[in-house]
Amino acid sequence: MKQIKRTIINDALKRTDIGAEINIKGWVRTKRGNKNVSFIAINDGSTIKNMQVVADLSKFDEETLKAITTGSCVSVNGLLAQSIGQGQNVEIQATELEILGTADATYPLQKKGHTLEYLREIAHLRPRTNTFGAIFRIRHNMAIAIHTFFHQKGFYYFHTPLITASDCEGAGQMFQVTTMDLNKLDHTEEGKIDYTNDFFGKPTSLTVSGQLEGELAATSLGAIYTFGPTFRAENSNTPRHLAEFWMVEPEVAFNDINDNMDLAEEFIKFCVKWALDNCADDLQFLNDMFDKELISRMEGVLKDSFVRLPYTEGVRILEEAVKNGHKFEYPVYWGADLASEHERYLVENHFKKPVILTDYPKEIKAFYMKQNEDGKTVRAMDVLFPKIGEIIGGSEREADYDKLLQRIQELNIPMKDMWWYLDTRKYGSCPHSGFGLGFERLLLFVTGMQNIRDVIPFPRTPKNANF
Ligand code: 4AD
Ligand code: MG
Repeated sequence: MKQIKRTIINDALKRTDIGAEINIKGWVRTKRGNKNVSFIAINDGSTIKNMQVVADLSKFDEETLKAITTGSCVSVNGLLAQSIGQGQNVEIQATELEILGTADATYPLQKKGHTLEYLREIAHLRPRTNTFGAIFRIRHNMAIAIHTFFHQKGFYYFHTPLITASDCEGAGQMFQVTTMDLNKLDHTEEGKIDYTNDFFGKPTSLTVSGQLEGELAATSLGAIYTFGPTFRAENSNTPRHLAEFWMVEPEVAFNDINDNMDLAEEFIKFCVKWALDNCADDLQFLNDMFDKELISRMEGVLKDSFVRLPYTEGVRILEEAVKNGHKFEYPVYWGADLASEHERYLVENHFKKPVILTDYPKEIKAFYMKQNEDGKTVRAMDVLFPKIGEIIGGSEREADYDKLLQRIQELNIPMKDMWWYLDTRKYGSCPHSGFGLGFERLLLFVTGMQNIRDVIPFPRTPKNANF
């Protein structure tokens, strides 16, 4: 086969130099035709669009043509031609065809229209479908949007450890990390497990959040963000929870809770706009196939200012709704941790736009949040989104050494894990704030997918760690 430098299909489709000799490589989606000619649709992942290859049957041996089946991988040399078919401007008139890899009739993606549930079982192949190609291209674009946003604002990308000895959220939902032989554990005299011979010489886990180390960075570099995997062993099999998910956590010195809300709103709007500007073809596909309101919902979020409302007011609205006959599965009262149905009622039924709830009861929030003067609430903020519920959780941090120490003691958090964190309040303490955005929750919003397992390539959930 003649050596011609490969053109990716996304570029080839934009070319106008009709008659040029080009090469493309990719996977066959469909082959149709008649006695004289085959039309082969090829996709190489660079775009949702296929390149149509036209093969004059008289020019190719039967063997080669037979091996061009759905799922096979081919290299095509040919001439760029104006396409009269609908959907594309150009096609390729094949001059040479090479089969790089065959795919027989057992290839699972023969016909279209598999359910999302079935595709989860073949997660190793699902990126070859239009749907998951679109989702993972959007996922990449959202990662770029995040780095672009913070870099342009002068934030530093700071890498926090994945293995840790402290429980940031204090929720006890951590995966333990050990090299000990679980069949032969050493015990101390009191009968507890002896970690002195373990790899780190003490109990360690996978992190649930990079925030605590992020605060160390913010109180030195000024404004930072983390963006990496986090792990939670919460046994909640819901469409919004993963055991391994990616989180973006900005942390900014001298920001109070209002600055924090401004940053969160500007950040999410930037990401949503980035998707609309950079992922038009993929969004249009998802809009047409899965969720006719996807694009208009995204545009809607850009239009309005988010509602900012204290938790106490939010609960009042929900109690009012119950009084007027609205049925929730979970009870709602002051002090309750709101369920996603409550959050979505506020956003979708009551305000019809995103809501930032603030000043939650301290009992349902983490130890590090700044305590309000009322002694009951803390300066927390959750950003609630249509279809999703909580997409961001954050707060102004408690900057006062004594108040922070008192809260740590009230909650029985072991001091030996926290001395370094308290040092930020001991030496040059300053007001500061931050938040965490669940990357996959953002992706649910910008893809219109309903299940978080469909926006991460290889989801980890209870009893599921395949691939
Ligand atoms: O509200 P969370 O637990 O807040 C924190 O971890 C803070 N340390 C963040 C900070 O202030 N720096 O989690 C933050 C976000 C949630 O709003 C949600 O979007 C997402 O992370 N999240 C999950 N996403 C998928 N699966 C899970 N199990 C998640 N738990 C939280
Ligand atoms: Mg939260």
